[in-house]
Amino acid sequence: MASSRPFGSRPFIVGIGGTTRPESSSEKALRYALALAAAEGADIELFDGASINLPMYAPESAERSEGAERMVAALRRANGVILSTPCYHGSVSGLVKNALDYSEDMCKDPEPYLDGRAVGLIVCGHGWQSTGVVLTAFRSIVHALRGWPTPMGVAINTLVERFDESGAGTQEHTARQMAVMVGQVIEFARLRSQLAKPSPPEAGLHEGGTMPEKRTIERARKDAREGKAASTQAGEFVREEMDHVQEGKHTVSSREQAIAIGLSKARRAGVKLGPPKKGKARAKRSGR
Ligand SMILES: Cc1cc2nc3c(=O)[nH]c(=O)nc-3n(C[C@H](O)[C@H](O)[C@H](O)COP(=O)(O)O)c2cc1C
Repeated sequence: MASSRPFGSRPFIVGIGGTTRPESSSEKALRYALALAAAEGADIELFDGASINLPMYAPESAERSEGAERMVAALRRANGVILSTPCYHGSVSGLVKNALDYSEDMCKDPEPYLDGRAVGLIVCGHGWQSTGVVLTAFRSIVHALRGWPTPMGVAINTLVERFDESGAGTQEHTARQMAVMVGQVIEFARLRSQLAKPSPPEAGLHEGGTMPEKRTIERARKDAREGKAASTQAGEFVREEMDHVQEGKHTVSSREQAIAIGLSKARRAGVKLGPPKKGKARAKRSGR
């Protein structure tokens, strides 16, 4: 199955965060991050402090404000997400958490909540202790939403750092961390769009996932019983992959990629092929 959020050359990155306070540091930091994403070729949409000032999320009610509907619709389309919160009493602010609670409306989506999306995190607080603690809490929330927190998170101590939304005034280490975090969100989006396959739990549970079909495994076993070569057995998995691509069950960027996926399935099914050629894998990475 192809990703439900395919994109051409421009990933769509959604930013959510900030406070209702004028001059909100977490909002300025978020605007700065989104500007970096736009400079890297992403389409962006910002949900700032004012726009996430939404009614308290009510799971029992189907009624949603226009702002909440707009935010959830954007999250559904998002290829990556950047979240920014102030430290409030040792955790994420209620405003940001309430906005994220609305992702519950996506619980039955093909890719529920933030599934399949890298999520970059920014935390602004009065000191390193709280920023560290809140970054950890923020990551736990993203995990619960099945998102992929980026390895780089950005903690900003607003007692010592004053900056504007263009990033002017940020300390060098913050600017560097921000660039790495945004780069990781976009890189993940691009890689995932190339793979165009669903994340677990869907993957492997239906035809077109990462697990081979039963009949393909049976065909390969029959080949093995008949003494046919490992390459012939593996050919059954490659053929399955080619059939899936032709039937539109999922997409690949090239014939070579379909073959590589088929061979990988064969290896996981126990076909005794040699390891993939190292030279090719390296050439592919350096070609990115
Ligand atoms: C209600 C409230 C609770 C706060 N709790 C903490 C805290 O526990 N630890 C901390 O370091 N800063 C705390 N702060 C300070 C804010 O995290 C800090 O000023 C942050 O930069 C505010 O974000 P903003 O500029 O986007 O409004 C608190 C501020 C408020 C208003």
